[in-house]
Amino acid sequence: MNSTLIIGSQFGDEGKGKIVDCLAEKSDCVVRFQGANNAGHTVVVDGEKFKLHLLPSGVVRKKRSLIGTGVCIDPRVLKKEIDGLKEKGIEVNLGIDPRSQIIMPWHNVIDVGKEEALKEKNIGTTRRGVGPCYADRASRIGIRFDDLVDENRFKEKLAFNYSYYKNICENILGKTIEFTEEEVFQEYFALGKEFKNMLTDVSIEVNQLLDKKKKVLFEGAQGTLLDNDFGTYPFVTSSHPISGAATVGVGMSPKRLERIIGIVKAYTTRVGSGPFPTELHEKEADFLRNAGNEFGTTTGRARRVGWLDLPMLRMAQRLNGFTELGLTKLDVLSGIKELKIADSYTLEGKKVLEFPYANHLVQKCKPNYKEFDGFTLEDKERDELRKNGFGALDENAKKYISFIEKQLKVPIKTVSFGAERKDTLTRD
Ligand code: IMP
Ligand code: MG
Repeated sequence: MNSTLIIGSQFGDEGKGKIVDCLAEKSDCVVRFQGANNAGHTVVVDGEKFKLHLLPSGVVRKKRSLIGTGVCIDPRVLKKEIDGLKEKGIEVNLGIDPRSQIIMPWHNVIDVGKEEALKEKNIGTTRRGVGPCYADRASRIGIRFDDLVDENRFKEKLAFNYSYYKNICENILGKTIEFTEEEVFQEYFALGKEFKNMLTDVSIEVNQLLDKKKKVLFEGAQGTLLDNDFGTYPFVTSSHPISGAATVGVGMSPKRLERIIGIVKAYTTRVGSGPFPTELHEKEADFLRNAGNEFGTTTGRARRVGWLDLPMLRMAQRLNGFTELGLTKLDVLSGIKELKIADSYTLEGKKVLEFPYANHLVQKCKPNYKEFDGFTLEDKERDELRKNGFGALDENAKKYISFIEKQLKVPIKTVSFGAERKDTLTRD
């Protein structure tokens, strides 16, 4: 198959970066289509950690990497990431769609100011200005990458945006804007110049690659439950981290999508506020959080942790149409005597299988758990797995995996049990 799409099926941080990295090896091109540098993808190569926020994970493999129009770009972050990779000896081969929106410095100010104004009802955003940038796209005042590279066009757009946002920031949010219009122009026009030669019509490039039967990997950021419509609104991100978004975020027909891989962490985590029916607290949570190193790649925040949740995953399956699943971080469950999976909820005395459409209903849901005997994945067992593959998995781990497959009616074709590429099992 030529097109493969990687989608987070939970709240993001499912370990997509690693799976993308493994698949990138056999791809000609890796494409991002939504989100921004709110994302954090960790890729480990021979013990060396690469933390990416904006660049497609394929850059580590030195593959052609594309950022589609659906992505918001903070050019400061882009520069930092490209320079950081250069220092490690990696030259990026990057193409950027000129239609992509630019995160301007006032977007960060608005992101923080709005969170503060919401007080205890804050969303817990990554404060990277992503929501305000997407809002500008929808209200049609956004600055596109194409504008950054033309002096007159940029000056004209900047004049409106700067005074508009200075007014909002200072007079509504009570925040001082510490940069002048001229300073913004100088810095961002220089950044535009630096990346000008990377601009490419990503829609045309991707469609041509697929016409030529090249292998293209589409890399989703965040996760299904953070979808702007279908997630736990308003505790969601501002883009659509679901499969359909790849078509509009790149500029291609839905008919182009062939293999759609849903990435499922073997348990659930969430950063930021919002409902989480299977959430664990205190000691139980500490164990999973530490074992899984569940601290944000982007913000360093401790992630909330809980058991695997099938009503959530059923919704993810319905929205994304996964053709297969990749189960990650199975090793983190090693040593837990009794594992649990929520296979349904009880809502107002009734059993429900599907994730409810609104938070006020989700908050009333009590998970019903199915219990599983635990397994261990110590060094010896891990070596065994690397040598002998899927069949060498502990019987209890196999039971856990096949329960998920049966419930969701999708095969789990990849299992990841460590951060390194070699800690990955695959089967047809
Ligand atoms: P925003 O995307 O920065 O506006 O944040 C909105 C919500 O999405 C917050 O709960 C964030 O913690 C969450 N979020 C955004 N990006 C990611 C991600 O890459 N992984 C996990 N959570 C994310
Ligand atoms: Mg992440």
